[in-house]
Amino acid sequence: MLDALQRPLGSLRISVTDRCNLRCRYCMPEDDYVWLPRTSILTFEEIARLSSVFASQGVRKVRLTGGEPLLRHDLPTLVGMLARDARIEDLSLTTNGLLLAKQAAVLRAAGLMRVTVSLDTLRPERMLAFAKSQRHADVLEGIAAVRASGFEKLKLNAVVIRGFNDDELADLIEFGRRHDAEVRFIEYMDVGGATRWSREQVVSQQEMLDTLTRRYGAIEPIAGHGAAPAERFRLPDGTTFGIIASVTAPFCRTCDRSRVTADGTWFLCLYAGTGVDLRERLRGGATDEELAALIRDTWQGRTDRGAEERLGVADRGALYRIDSLRADPHREMHTRGG
Ligand code: GTP
Ligand code: 5AD
Ligand code: SF4
Repeated sequence: MLDALQRPLGSLRISVTDRCNLRCRYCMPEDDYVWLPRTSILTFEEIARLSSVFASQGVRKVRLTGGEPLLRHDLPTLVGMLARDARIEDLSLTTNGLLLAKQAAVLRAAGLMRVTVSLDTLRPERMLAFAKSQRHADVLEGIAAVRASGFEKLKLNAVVIRGFNDDELADLIEFGRRHDAEVRFIEYMDVGGATRWSREQVVSQQEMLDTLTRRYGAIEPIAGHGAAPAERFRLPDGTTFGIIASVTAPFCRTCDRSRVTADGTWFLCLYAGTGVDLRERLRGGATDEELAALIRDTWQGRTDRGAEERLGVADRGALYRIDSLRADPHREMHTRGG
């Protein structure tokens, strides 16, 4: 099934909670947030049912996100429910790692296939300034636990912000090499929630490559990233890393992903202003076929190219001001799940 720009529905990001135990400055820099009402949060049964209907329409990759997904009580049970669906070929999790040490093995046993951990800095004092948390050691323990639990692949995400962590690119690559993990550097995006965003703080893919070339020598691009957002590169010694260049080189043309928030609102783009309320239909007694038809009709009309359209915005600044985020928390990146 293809959308209006010939892009398949391939990958679904499911946010299991909008809560987070970090306050990363690129995502949750404010002091107060408006949370989704508790009664609106989907149950595991509702999430599994939606996942199954999406799979019937072609979804093959499911990624669990948050907020911080490990804050959702009993997450391994949900993983187990989703892992039972043979149509889901890839079941993964994006986490900030704080609670991972305790849960990695159980998640693996439940059927989780891949884990991506956010690691923006190797310096605990920077994490305090960057994410208002002293728990850097817990993240490192979480990373070690992933490695010890038999997961095949581990990715580390670092959002690069000028003046905060742009001097740590090589250190992060070295860390990744030591821990058998692939580091991905992410350009700081002007998504909802990034209320302090400005163009000057974005370190572009080209700049990152220049810095790393000065340090390591010629860097070779690895061809064929398909629908994945990261372009991958190889250093002269064979170490690989990725860059997600959503700001300077958006990849909307190949985007096969959509996202469901913890309250069952379906967004066709990270930047979309509005979503489709699936919870209302679910709880109103819609059949699987009715849900599938809604998903099909909606996807076939999809024309979203959010990141590419942002390229054309003059005087580009934060996407939303804080008052409009408070008016509708669905606009927040931490509600949409990154
Ligand atoms: P795999 O490629 O399957 O490993 O996962 P991923 O890279 O899609 O997942 P991850 O949660 O690690 O996302 C990495 C980053 O990509 C996020 O932090 C976002 O910054 C960015 N990203 C994810 N989805 C989108 C999207 O739909 N559009 C854009 N422009 N950026 C996205
Ligand atoms: N720019 C880029 N990436 C972001 N994330 C959250 N906010 C931003 C932003 N403004 C990323 C996190 C994490 C994922 C869930 O979303 O780094 O990897
Ligand atoms: Fe940071 Fe993710 Fe929490 Fe946002 S949701 S504050 S990116 S850990």
